[in-house]
Amino acid sequence: MTVPTTPAPTLANQATTSSAVSTAPLPAVARHLNCDHPDMSQLRSQSTTPLQAPGSHHAGIVSAEPALTESVSTESARAEPAPVKRRLSVLAAAGSGTRLGRHMPKALVEVGGAPMVLRALRGLDAAGITHIAVTAPTDALVDFEQLIGSALPDLSATVRVVAGGASRQASVAAGLRSLEQFRPDARTPVLIHDAARCLTPPALIDRVARAIENGANAVIPTLPVTDTIKPLASGTHIDEGDDALSPLDPSIDRSRLRAVQTPQGFTWDVICRAHEYGASRAADESSAATDDAGLVEALGLTVMSIAGDMMAFKVTTELDIALAQACLDHGYAPDA
Ligand code: C5P
Repeated sequence: MTVPTTPAPTLANQATTSSAVSTAPLPAVARHLNCDHPDMSQLRSQSTTPLQAPGSHHAGIVSAEPALTESVSTESARAEPAPVKRRLSVLAAAGSGTRLGRHMPKALVEVGGAPMVLRALRGLDAAGITHIAVTAPTDALVDFEQLIGSALPDLSATVRVVAGGASRQASVAAGLRSLEQFRPDARTPVLIHDAARCLTPPALIDRVARAIENGANAVIPTLPVTDTIKPLASGTHIDEGDDALSPLDPSIDRSRLRAVQTPQGFTWDVICRAHEYGASRAADESSAATDDAGLVEALGLTVMSIAGDMMAFKVTTELDIALAQACLDHGYAPDA
């Protein structure tokens, strides 16, 4: 695997960093992700399924060599077609849902009568995301394809269903690789989103995308934490319902802590470099990054934050499903 050896630019100074990132030679994702690491080899062999709405205006765009340009009417513009404004996204939906214990992939569990993956997909579509790779568990690919295929007539985005990996990080890497066909350039925004955050308002998704379009390189939504947070002493753990005494390290100053949400937005260049650099961690969830910003930080880049939204909470437990249902019932989240 090729790992960048030169120190990555910091994003603390956005003006400097923007130019540092955008003037670097554009590394194709093939170079970044189709590398020789075993995790990547495994992912390469997994399937990628294009989906199109019958008769949609995207007919033909999901081809081997899609032309992502549009015709415009003036003489001078015809000579140099304007590029279509693209917003790419990986929708991570390949989780098993073990913690929910429903014996089905979590993203297929319904909230307010619609599977979470469809709610999340509609949110991305409503926010103007143009190309979306949905990661699905390998043993439920057909179910995901059928479900998403049936929703396509109502969507503007081009959607692909791809087989996920052993960890969320591996799934996102697979999704990124499938987006390469849309020929992003170095600064094309790529939003990585969790299907489990199925009530995320399109306005938040749009704000993250706009932050990237306006020059940032890595932007994530965060919220203040309401609980006081204390770390367990090194090497200790508490099992659920455990009354055994476990030592704690001192509290972390709560005023400086933020809870991290998705969608997390990056330029194509930055997210591909980050996944290549962290590829050796993807083999299982114990070593994998729990979010994509963590991989970008490992590159030495600074991640910026915008204000998150309480409706972007992650559905993990039955209690979260009840909360999501109550949010829909009481109008806190739009019933997409
Ligand atoms: O497990 P966790 O709740 O952190 O998962 C966050 C999101 O990542 C979920 O939407 C889940 O479907 C997705 N995921 C994935 N591939 C995995 C594990 C999780 O796409 N191997």
